[in-house]
Amino acid sequence: MNTREILLKAQKEGYAIGAFNAANIETLKAITTAAKKLNSPIIIEASKGEVDYIGKTQLADLIKNYRNELNIPIILNLDHSESFEECEKAVNAGFNYIHFDGSKLLYEDNLKIAKEVVKMCHAKGIPVEGEMDHIQGSSTDHTKEKPDDVLDKTLYTNPQKAKIFVKDSGIDVFAAFFGNLHGLYSTEKHLKIDVLEKIRSLLPNTFLSLHGGSGIDNKDIMMAIKVGRIVKININSEMRVAFKNALKKSLDETSEVAIYKITPNAIEEVQKIVEGKIKLFGSENRAA
Ligand code: G3H
Ligand code: ZN
Repeated sequence: MNTREILLKAQKEGYAIGAFNAANIETLKAITTAAKKLNSPIIIEASKGEVDYIGKTQLADLIKNYRNELNIPIILNLDHSESFEECEKAVNAGFNYIHFDGSKLLYEDNLKIAKEVVKMCHAKGIPVEGEMDHIQGSSTDHTKEKPDDVLDKTLYTNPQKAKIFVKDSGIDVFAAFFGNLHGLYSTEKHLKIDVLEKIRSLLPNTFLSLHGGSGIDNKDIMMAIKVGRIVKININSEMRVAFKNALKKSLDETSEVAIYKITPNAIEEVQKIVEGKIKLFGSENRAA
C-alpha cells in the first residue's frame, strides 16, 4: 500500500493512525515495537530538530529497514516543515509524506509555497499536509500552565477559509486548529468538536489530521475520529516526558555505563504510551 492507500483505508474503516515523533533510535524502537505487537499502521514523524539530529537519509534508511523487517505499513513524514527546500530534500531522501507548515507566513505566501510543495510531491505520488492557522503551544513542558492560559480561541480554523485553502493549494491532508494545542498541560485539553464538524461537512473527502494529540481528553479524541473522521493524530510530548522521566530514574539508580543497558526502561515507557494511543485510535490489527 502506498501512503494514500494507507490513509484511505483509515478513512473508510473509521480509525486514526498515530503519528509519533522519533527523536532517536530508542524512541524509534519503542514506536515500531508497539506497532508490530499490535499489528498497526503507524506514521513516524520527524521535526526539523529531529531530522537535523538523526539525518534525513539515515532516518529514511532506518524506516526502509523497519518496513522490510516488520511488514507493517510505516509512513515517514517531515513534521511541520517550514520551507520548500527542506520538503524537497526529504522527498529526495525517501520520505513518503510531507507536512508543509506555512501557518506563520502571510496567507498568500503560505498558499504559494504550499502549491509548489504539492506540485513537487504529487509528481512522485507523495501526499502533502497543509496548515493555515498556526497550531499554538509547543511540544515542551507546559505542566505549570492550563490550556486556557495559552489558547487563543479567535485563532481556531474558519471552516469556510479552510475550504478555500484546501481547494486552492491542492493539499491532501488538512491540519485544523480547534483546541488541539501542542503540548502537555496541568489539565486535559478539550476539542471544539462543532468546529471540526463544520470543517468536515465543507471538506467531505479531504483527509484531516489532529496535531497536539498529547493530553487531550480521550472522549474528545474518540469524537474527533467518529464525527470528524480524523485519520492522523500527532503525538510527541507524552512520549518525551515518559522518556525523560524513565531515563532519569534509570540513571539515578545505576552505576552502569553501557548505554544500551540503561535505556531499556525509557524505551519500555515510551512503548506503553504508543500502545495506549494505538488502542485508543482504533488502529490495532489494521495493518493488513
Ligand atoms: O507535530 C507534532 C504534534 O502535533 C505533537 O503534539 O506534543 O501535543 O503531542 P503534542
Ligand atoms: Zn504538530
